[in-house]
Amino acid sequence: MLNVVVLVSGGGTNLQAVIDGIEAGTITNTRITGVISNNQNAYALVRAKKHGISGRCISPKMFDTREKFNEKFMEAVDEMRPDLIVLAGFLVVIPPAMISRYRNRMINIHPSLIPSFCGTGYYGLKVHEAALARGVKVVGATVHFVDEGTDTGPIILQKAVEVKEGDTPAILQRRVMEQAEWKILPEAINLIAGGKITVEDNLVRFI
Ligand code: GRF
Repeated sequence: MLNVVVLVSGGGTNLQAVIDGIEAGTITNTRITGVISNNQNAYALVRAKKHGISGRCISPKMFDTREKFNEKFMEAVDEMRPDLIVLAGFLVVIPPAMISRYRNRMINIHPSLIPSFCGTGYYGLKVHEAALARGVKVVGATVHFVDEGTDTGPIILQKAVEVKEGDTPAILQRRVMEQAEWKILPEAINLIAGGKITVEDNLVRFI
């Protein structure tokens, strides 16, 4: 059984997609052992509670220094004994020690086709604003392992989504979520739970 801990900051629609996948049986051999948010008011915590999953808030604002936060945050994650950590819209920088401890055991969903529209400053609506400003005709989402860089880790899955005439950043964001994010995040977790993925030379291989 793959024990998953999900880290969230906001609405938690990707968390919901994972919960639904587990409940529907499209994600097999997996349970969510906990949800951690840096934001007390994150609706993601309500979603967790509704499904009987334990949730807690731990925020940098609760500590005098970043070092103290990093230490307590890692303790909180470790206590939930994850086999896999899923960053589902988590807006806090992951402590470097945690990245090495969970190498190839921590994944992130990013709302673009990496390496386009990713890296520092590309989060939330900004990604979709930039795509529309550039006039690209195809966008999408990427699930990747987390390494020391921003959106630079080994790519697991990507899915393309069409840009349509008259799209606004919010409309495009919603289409990318519906057609790509909510599909490839559960799919990636199911592949990992089934032991179907390995990383060699920084590239994902399917077994
Ligand atoms: C998603 O667009 C995800 O790709 C990004 O943050 C957003 C989170 O949305 N990393 P939600 O909280 O899952 O609804």
